[in-house]
Amino acid sequence: MAVPQRHVSYDTYAESVTDDSASGSGTTGSTKSARESVFQFVRENGRTYHSYQAGTYLLPNDQSEIDRLDLQYEILRNLMGNALFKAPIHNPHKILDIGTGTGKWPIEIANQFEYAEITGTDLSPIQPDSIPPNVKFVIDDANEEDWMINENSYDFIHTQMLLGSFDDFRQIIRRAFRYVKPGGYMESVELYPTVYCDDGTMPPDWPVAAWARMQDQAAMNMGKPVRIGNKLKRWYEQNGFVDVREEVYKVPLSPWPRDPKWKMLGKFHQEVMLEGCAGISMAFFHRGLGWTQEEIEVYLVPVRKAFHNRSVHAYQKIYVVWGRKPEDAVNPPRRPTPPGPDPTGIP
Ligand SMILES: C[S@@+](CC[C@H](N)C(=O)[O-])C[C@H]1O[C@@H](n2cnc3c(N)ncnc32)[C@H](O)[C@@H]1O
Repeated sequence: MAVPQRHVSYDTYAESVTDDSASGSGTTGSTKSARESVFQFVRENGRTYHSYQAGTYLLPNDQSEIDRLDLQYEILRNLMGNALFKAPIHNPHKILDIGTGTGKWPIEIANQFEYAEITGTDLSPIQPDSIPPNVKFVIDDANEEDWMINENSYDFIHTQMLLGSFDDFRQIIRRAFRYVKPGGYMESVELYPTVYCDDGTMPPDWPVAAWARMQDQAAMNMGKPVRIGNKLKRWYEQNGFVDVREEVYKVPLSPWPRDPKWKMLGKFHQEVMLEGCAGISMAFFHRGLGWTQEEIEVYLVPVRKAFHNRSVHAYQKIYVVWGRKPEDAVNPPRRPTPPGPDPTGIP
């Protein structure tokens, strides 16, 4: 791919890019070109996309997407009672956030654990340049079998909202297991995009629910499943984690609830989805279903309208799953297990 070395780390977006994989330090010719190439975003249909491993991840990385991710982040924190994690973490030394996005999670956890060293990785350099001294961001592809870090070295590995990012999220869990210290934890937070309603107010053909089904179909066509949240607990257990726990939260799709807290969460989630539906559909429906930009725009008109219908009491689910690596764990071999469908076939 475009970047000559993996692990382009940077403290700021200015001249301080260094190459962790090189023996020396400082800005070299190759790291300069690495830096330039990761910032040369791919442009398509008026949006920008990551250039490192271009095409791997489907959603944009422009300002609208950054704003959307930041709002989504606030929803998750609110749902989780302002907690940054649920695992019983005490005095961690090293923490890794895979697919960190705008880097909010590493920055906030760095303030909570000021003696810990926090690393956030992503394909896109969209993190802020003003960060706590114990945080570093690295451009890296979690699809690589080798994450170029030491085995058994992280107290905590975290992932959040990576649905639709990977062919097989079980491989991410399997790799993370190797890098977590014995006794350390992994935690994942995922939106489950199926639309639910408990009181019969959602018609079977409600455009938002139909849109979510269409997105699911497109994602499956592209081999990037989005319905991973409800499988995480089983996948953690299958990959060696123990004491695996799961919490499931409901998030309203519009401000339909009466309770002010849930009304506010519904309003924020509605905003996130309204902003996201163009980017999500453009990527998934264009590439997964072969639709044109115009066809997608036309399809989204009733979907956007339906999002504003408060008489439909619809919601989606958020799964939070965490597990511990046993003290006596043996790491799996460094070879990918053959990709394939989840053998249990649970939808
Ligand atoms: C929906 S965003 C979530 C960001 C962040 N975790 C959050 O909760 O706000 C998904 C992120 O995963 C990153 N990503 C996708 N595929 C990746 C890969 N193969 N390696 C590293 N990061 C990846 C994307 O660039 C994007 O920033």
